[in-house]
Amino acid sequence: MDNFIYDTPTRVYFGKEQEKKVGEILAEYGAKKVLIHYGGGSAVRSGLIGLVEECLKAQGIEYVLLGGVQPNPEIKMVRRGVELCLREGVDFILAVGGGSVMDSAKAIANGAADPSVDPWDYNMGKAQPKKTLRKGCILTLSAAGSEMSNSCVITDEEQSMKRGYGSPMNRMNFAIENPELTYTVDAYQTACGAVDIAMHTIERYFCPGEDTYLTDAIAEAVMKSVRKAGEDCIKNPRDYVARANMMWASSLAHNGLTQCGRAFQLVVHQLEHEVSGMYPKVAHGAGLAALWCSWARYVYQANVPRFLQWSQNVWNVDVNYEHPEETVLRAIDLQENYYRSIGMPTCLSELGVKEEDLETLALRCSRDKTRTLIGYKPLAYEDVLEIFRMAF
Ligand code: NZQ
Ligand code: ZN
Repeated sequence: MDNFIYDTPTRVYFGKEQEKKVGEILAEYGAKKVLIHYGGGSAVRSGLIGLVEECLKAQGIEYVLLGGVQPNPEIKMVRRGVELCLREGVDFILAVGGGSVMDSAKAIANGAADPSVDPWDYNMGKAQPKKTLRKGCILTLSAAGSEMSNSCVITDEEQSMKRGYGSPMNRMNFAIENPELTYTVDAYQTACGAVDIAMHTIERYFCPGEDTYLTDAIAEAVMKSVRKAGEDCIKNPRDYVARANMMWASSLAHNGLTQCGRAFQLVVHQLEHEVSGMYPKVAHGAGLAALWCSWARYVYQANVPRFLQWSQNVWNVDVNYEHPEETVLRAIDLQENYYRSIGMPTCLSELGVKEEDLETLALRCSRDKTRTLIGYKPLAYEDVLEIFRMAF
């Protein structure tokens, strides 16, 4: 087991009606002027933004509103948010929404804390944020895990380029998680969320590392729980137990718990970010579903025992000890069938990706052939291109 630091500073308020506490919570943090940041309208239609406004007024906390964050959030909106925060003297940011709103809020918080740096430079790795504004969220979609993660993923819409970065500055101070707020999430987004949540843990599970049987057991439980919860949420969108398990899994899958003692890389995420960067209508979870099985078929031979453990413990398949590879391929097929069963794509063409763009996607992912993704099998430009072709 590798050495590790486990640092998850986000305070979680979980359960029914927790959003009604938002005014008191912000008052506890001493917030004076809050930016309430939200998306394309779901949080307005549900009445949640109105409720938040009432809660802040009741505590005498001033606020400004900034809605309109799009899925795969844009740097243009971040820059607008930074300007607004500086003009209005905002000292706390409240994200009300899913991963896109939370990431936009994180980028604004970093940008407003140090206006001498263009926030896109953080995403490009040209600078590291050294300070940030305080921030919290009210989660309305179980998926990205941004509510407890240290990462922030933004798209430069002019270059059709999506980039994420990790930093301790990207942690939310608090996350309000009421599963009932996700009852209105449609079947497609719910399925995208189930894929993304599981993937945050699957990717960590398939990172180099030894002797982490506790971490492995937690990871396998997350993967199985999300599968069940996702299916149950799709069957009955108002199933509280299923929505609650999805939401908690969203936070645990990506807060670092399922990587303790193992190396950390999100390889398939790197492939997917190129896809949803170039095709902004592609939902991140759907992009992951279209890619993961091809990645697994490409790399599994580099660590058959690990894939076998996953096949047994997560898919409960009988092992063919003479031909363990056959068992692994069977489990990957099961994963693919599961994606189909919840309405997720299993190839890039289903997402509208054009064959002639595969080389550009691979070039971008390999940073013009200068970057090799590290994992059980190093993936240079040619490998990445081959995976994109297999997934097409
Ligand atoms: O914009 P509104 O109208 O609110 O609608 C949203 C959006 O259209 C809708 N929605 C959200 N809550 C809802 C709802 N609809 C009905 N009822 C509700 N309660 O859902 C749509 C998708 O929202 P979005 O926030 O884009 O989805 P998600 O949470 O999957 O976030 C995706 C973004 O997060 C990034 C992705 O790359 C993508 O940009 N990620 C961020 C990560 C992080 N910061 O740790 C990790 C992830 O791997 C991921 O890369
Ligand atoms: Zn993800």
